[in-house]
Amino acid sequence: MAELIAPHGGKLVNRVASERDIDRLLQEAATLPSLEINSREQSDLELLAVGAFSPLPGFMNEADYRSVVDQMRLANGLPWSLPITLSAGELQAAALSQGSRVALRRDGAPVAILEVEDVYAYDKEREAEAVYGTTDEAHPGVKALYAQGDLLIAGDVTLLRSNRSQFFASHNLTPAETRQLISEKGWRTVVGFQTRNPVHRAHEYIQKCALELVDGLLLHPLVGDTKSDDIPADVRMSCYEILLEKYYPQDRVLLSVLPAAMRYAGPREAIFHALVRKNYGCTHFIVGRDHAGVGSYYGTYDAQLMFDRFEPEELGITPMKFEHTFWCNDCEGMASTKTCPHSKTSHVALSGTRVRQMLTDGEMPPIEFTRPEVAQVLIQAYAGVASPARNG
Ligand code: ADX
Repeated sequence: MAELIAPHGGKLVNRVASERDIDRLLQEAATLPSLEINSREQSDLELLAVGAFSPLPGFMNEADYRSVVDQMRLANGLPWSLPITLSAGELQAAALSQGSRVALRRDGAPVAILEVEDVYAYDKEREAEAVYGTTDEAHPGVKALYAQGDLLIAGDVTLLRSNRSQFFASHNLTPAETRQLISEKGWRTVVGFQTRNPVHRAHEYIQKCALELVDGLLLHPLVGDTKSDDIPADVRMSCYEILLEKYYPQDRVLLSVLPAAMRYAGPREAIFHALVRKNYGCTHFIVGRDHAGVGSYYGTYDAQLMFDRFEPEELGITPMKFEHTFWCNDCEGMASTKTCPHSKTSHVALSGTRVRQMLTDGEMPPIEFTRPEVAQVLIQAYAGVASPARNG
């Protein structure tokens, strides 16, 4: 068994109620004040509970929140780039006092118990500016932030009911399970790949460049909430499965989902994505062009530059940085400006909008852009034909 990279902060958090305690805790939850959570908070809750956000044991207290917003570090100095918070309105929060316990509910059903450590006010504009680099409400992350309640509730969580089985159950491994598999496979080095898109040729190319250098690839698509014009997760899963089956060495790739919500926080989210993948056992993490970006809020390589703000050993996981890659007709292969001397006229470049239009029209994007098997799944999805069910 190979030795694995240590989780962030040294220990993998587990806040899932044990079999022994579950009935008692569910009975207790029925007697507690309630707080209804939204789907994004539920995603965070699940990820906190399984240790994907180690070392966080729950939603952030004020000291950690302020330190993360201002300095990208927890109050103890450990790098952490995004606030993980639970919000409530004044009325809801009035029922919660320090030291009390509250049942977190989703659609009325209890999903967790939170031990209230702190209830505090926060400045949404300040968070938006610091975390997203903009206060523009057109930014999807900023929009979600502005829609939150005006107070934040901090506290450790105990998960009572997971929604894991509803999320691609056969490909939904916890950090502990992923680590176990990596260890069994004997991989000493593993590169994580974050994505919210189908795997196009550019993605495949950078994954395979990375695979030339490390033992295994964790293809780790994010399947929590994304923008409405992003391709739905079940369609993407069908694309990943077909692609892996036909074009990847089966014994060197692991496909599993990250049930996180997308923030579109660009550089800060890239650090977060990397730290989370470290918790899943990755030693390396791919950061390409405009990682976790949206619109033109961030520079093409800002996410890569963000890694330079930390000492390599404080992050622990090593970023593998890739230039913008494309198919070059003269090179007759995938390339980047680092490897290709030809002009842009030789490069196959398609905007996301153009690709969407082609798929909607039932037109195959060029094979230099997307593998035909993947394009086929996407065309069917765009035509409204149900893709093979993968959800569960
Ligand atoms: S993300 O929002 O999840 O980052 P996406 O799924 O598009 O978006 O990208 C996944 C990863 O591939 C990111 O690290 C991104 O920077 C990288 N990437 C996407 N397209 C390219 C490309 N053409 N060249 C280099 N890197 C790319």
